[in-house]
Amino acid sequence: MSTTSTRVAIITGGAQGIGEAIALRLADEDINVVIFDVKGKESLLESLVKKIEAKGRKAFYVVGDVTNEADIKGAVDKTVETFGGLDIMVANAGILFMKPITECTPEDFNRVLGVNTLGVMLAFKHAAQQMIKQGRGGRIIGASSLSGKQGMADVSLYCASKFAVRGMTQATALELQKHNITVNSYAPGLILTPMVVHPDDDKHGGLGSVVLMNPALKPGTKGATPSVVAELVAYLIKPEAHFVTGQTITIDGGQYFD
Ligand SMILES: NC(=O)c1ccc[n+]([C@@H]2O[C@H](COP(=O)([O-])OP(=O)(O)OC[C@H]3O[C@@H](n4cnc5c(N)ncnc54)[C@H](O)[C@@H]3O)[C@@H](O)[C@H]2O)c1
Repeated sequence: MSTTSTRVAIITGGAQGIGEAIALRLADEDINVVIFDVKGKESLLESLVKKIEAKGRKAFYVVGDVTNEADIKGAVDKTVETFGGLDIMVANAGILFMKPITECTPEDFNRVLGVNTLGVMLAFKHAAQQMIKQGRGGRIIGASSLSGKQGMADVSLYCASKFAVRGMTQATALELQKHNITVNSYAPGLILTPMVVHPDDDKHGGLGSVVLMNPALKPGTKGATPSVVAELVAYLIKPEAHFVTGQTITIDGGQYFD
């Protein structure tokens, strides 16, 4: 992996939440950042680009859908064209989906696995192709979840999508080892982002309180800010992290022990 010049990262689902925190954290590491998110998030994306530029880094955003291969390939191509290469891919975009299995439909399955699993696969694939071509190694990071380690009631499709990311992380890490590319994922517990907003939060104690009522969680479980995940990613992209690959790293305040 190149350590001498400014590296370049793409972060999918980077307009808000964990992705936004990662984008800002990587900008502190002399990394130019491309943020990828869906149509409708342009004002968040524009303001994030300005915040990254204020840190002295270069940035731009791409509007697209992680389930669309042309959008992901286009983002990688534009990144290479603009910044000269790609060193880090953070396949962060994801959607939460809660419904008992008795009510889940094939359409639900395709939507949740589409964004959370196919979206990660396409980001892994196009980042890997580019990094192999460059021949200077790289870092690929995916978004799994505590729900990718342990089943929880009423989130069967979300769990399926996040367990799949964990498997894909292990297999891809083995395939890319010879190219000096590490592949890891983060598996957070409750992180206080727009994803965990519930209309009844105010009645139960604020952001994340309804999600925390899930009986699968240990009593006393708390949420954390997105910065805890961003800091883990900041480690995974360091030269010293070359020895960490194929891992889906739990970061959940002690909910689940591997
Ligand atoms: N917040 C948590 O408690 C938590 C816990 C475990 C894992 N995660 C995972 O971390 C990742 C980030 O979560 P977050 O809490 O920041 O969520 P969030 O909802 O706040 O942000 C997710 C971002 O992904 C984008 N996105 C959704 N679908 C997309 C698509 N098809 N194409 C491109 N972008 C898309 C959204 O527009 C949004 O900006 C997700 O994969 C999530 O499953 C979150």
